Amino acid sequence: MKLIVAKNYDEMSAEAAKIMAEVIKNKPDCVLGLATGSTPVGMYACLVDMYNKGELDFSKVKSVNLDEYYPIVPEHDQSYRYFMNYNLFDKVNINKENTFVPDGTCADPAAFCKAYDERIDAMGGTDIQVLGIGRNGHIGFNEPDTELLYGTHLTDLTEDTIDANARFFASANDVPKQALTMGMGPIFKARKIILLANGVNKAEAIKQTLAGKVSTLCPSTLLTLHPDVTVICDEDAYSLVK
Ligand code: GLP
Repeated sequence: MKLIVAKNYDEMSAEAAKIMAEVIKNKPDCVLGLATGSTPVGMYACLVDMYNKGELDFSKVKSVNLDEYYPIVPEHDQSYRYFMNYNLFDKVNINKENTFVPDGTCADPAAFCKAYDERIDAMGGTDIQVLGIGRNGHIGFNEPDTELLYGTHLTDLTEDTIDANARFFASANDVPKQALTMGMGPIFKARKIILLANGVNKAEAIKQTLAGKVSTLCPSTLLTLHPDVTVICDEDAYSLVK
């Protein structure tokens, strides 16, 4: 794994945006694997900035998102579809028809997930996958467990994740208890992965991720096995390494 330790959140965001921009410039019809959460907000802002300066063109870019709460309607301001529209899609010239976020309203999650994986395969996999990380090392919504699933699936959220995400909702009771998430298979099919982390509350997860051991009890450690992963973290998230 490659490692970039940035001074602070803004530098982390700029480093991540630089890597994303390179992929888009080298392959204008690339497939971006996108993530939500508070971590990548700054990276999206940098990409919008580059677009506004005329440095980036999203007209041929396609995207697939990692995960979405279930159930949730796309208009809900905490849905990941809403997040993506607000932070990126509505601010650049991407064709929304080429942007895919798991559907938090689907009636048959198993059938939806199968079709989602087939769509990712039909697109040729992602050229770059952005990942955040949970305090417990989850990626997407692949929560720590004795085994992890390969394909996109419906999953129960852990108490820790519900608690961590409660800050965005009126109360912990309002956080959906389930989510649709890419499994480890579609994540690993990405040709390149960047994992972003900032803040001391991610320090333990980053320490585990970089420790050179692999365990499904900390899903991010599996990234050790992927040939092209760059961890981009700030000094706080890096503070427990060494
Ligand atoms: C969320 C998302 C993840 C995200 C992580 C960290 O629950 N499902 O995709 O990476 O948890 O979120 P944040 O960036 O807000 O800390």
